[in-house]
Amino acid sequence: MSRTRISNGLVVTAADELRADVLIDGQTVVALAATGSAVADSWQADTVIDATGCYVIPGGVDAHTHMELPFGGTAASDTFETGTRAAAWGGTTTIVDFAVQPRGGSLRAGLDAWHAKAEGNCAIDYGFHTIVSDVTEPVLKEMDQLTDSGESTSFKLFMAYPGVFYSDDGRILRAMQRAADNRALVMVHAENGIAIDVLVEQALAAGRSDPRYHGEVRRELLEAEAVHRAVKLAQVAGSPLYVVHVSAGSALAEIATARDQGLPVFGETCPQYLFLDVDKLAEPDFEGAKYVCSTPLRPREHQAELWKGLRTDDLQVVSTDHCPFCFVGQKELGRGDFSKIPNGLPGVEDRMDLLHQAVLDGRISRRRWVEIACAAPARMFGLYPRKGTIAPGSDADLVVYDPAAAHTLSAATHHMNVDYSAYEGTRVGGGVRTVLSRGAVVLDRGRWLGRAGHGRFLRRDTCQYL
Ligand code: URP
Ligand code: ZN
Ligand code: ZN
Ligand code: ZN
Repeated sequence: MSRTRISNGLVVTAADELRADVLIDGQTVVALAATGSAVADSWQADTVIDATGCYVIPGGVDAHTHMELPFGGTAASDTFETGTRAAAWGGTTTIVDFAVQPRGGSLRAGLDAWHAKAEGNCAIDYGFHTIVSDVTEPVLKEMDQLTDSGESTSFKLFMAYPGVFYSDDGRILRAMQRAADNRALVMVHAENGIAIDVLVEQALAAGRSDPRYHGEVRRELLEAEAVHRAVKLAQVAGSPLYVVHVSAGSALAEIATARDQGLPVFGETCPQYLFLDVDKLAEPDFEGAKYVCSTPLRPREHQAELWKGLRTDDLQVVSTDHCPFCFVGQKELGRGDFSKIPNGLPGVEDRMDLLHQAVLDGRISRRRWVEIACAAPARMFGLYPRKGTIAPGSDADLVVYDPAAAHTLSAATHHMNVDYSAYEGTRVGGGVRTVLSRGAVVLDRGRWLGRAGHGRFLRRDTCQYL
């Protein structure tokens, strides 16, 4: 068993900042000790990583990705191999992706299909939520089994995308009732898809076919309304609720109200809603299509609300909803009809850097950075303290992060398998230096040392906030 010591860094977790050395034995963190102390200096190690001037943080946990997701007649352009490698380049060492129940099929069939895509291909550890597209009695029983076994303890239901993933309120209520019994976590895509489809049809009939109309028809009111309804359904069912990709201030307000009432309601937002705004959808020459995702980008004033929500803990998690489609050949499927643009943005590689920039900008503290990007997603989805922190017994998923390694986000240099960057030209003040996944150095000073197949499937606990 090889031992690695990471010396002289500032260890930052959601709870603490410590000048400490970290000792790793094999795949696991075994000890922390004050830098320069007799204890730390007594450690024998095969490898010493000098982290002088750097932070030592837990590897990022991105609890919302869609590698290889079939969507809109095409599939997300990152495979589990390319997407998990890109994640590691950006300091993320765990993803939780979504296995999709085939319509008319079982959750088991969806999970089997996603295991087949991921197994042997991932550079970092991974888990699966399950997208429930058809709530039936057998499916509810499967939810019990999957939660018990830890294979999937969280289930996403869609109030959007009629005819694709959509569930009506009755089906969502049934899934929530089941979750109240079996301790699973129901995740909801909260947009009123039935009303949105009417507005889509009307926009297209009026000749409004450009990408910017995607932002107009997916009205803020219809996000807030759906969040409100989801909260009430969860309240009736007595279940917890996790609202994914919150983009609107008014939707966040519904979550804040529920939390003020003491309800177990949780919220996630994504870098695109914190750093980009609806003007992107109006970029000329169809370039706006690069920014088509759902929920949509909102006017700039929503960003301040979302940052506030992150500070007040009305939003607990920032994940990426990484769902990349190339501009050429994929986003272009929607030329002349914005509703045919595959929905989703790339970002799995950019999240840690962008959120660190928010630290430099004084929006959040360093510890809150680690909390929203590592610890809270790990707790939310039953992976803590194995993931999301640095403590004896934790997996040695660690990032040596250089807060002074400024660089520019660009498709020319990123590792995601997509032909554009949503953040092209954005300067970020820090950067990843070294990344360890279960004790193995997978990335060091710009050199890729990882391998497809190192990453293992993670069984998960139920939500650790409950
Ligand atoms: O636009 C998005 N978000 N695409 C991925 C699917 C989803 O709704 O999360
Ligand atoms: Zn969604
Ligand atoms: Zn998603
Ligand atoms: Zn970077």
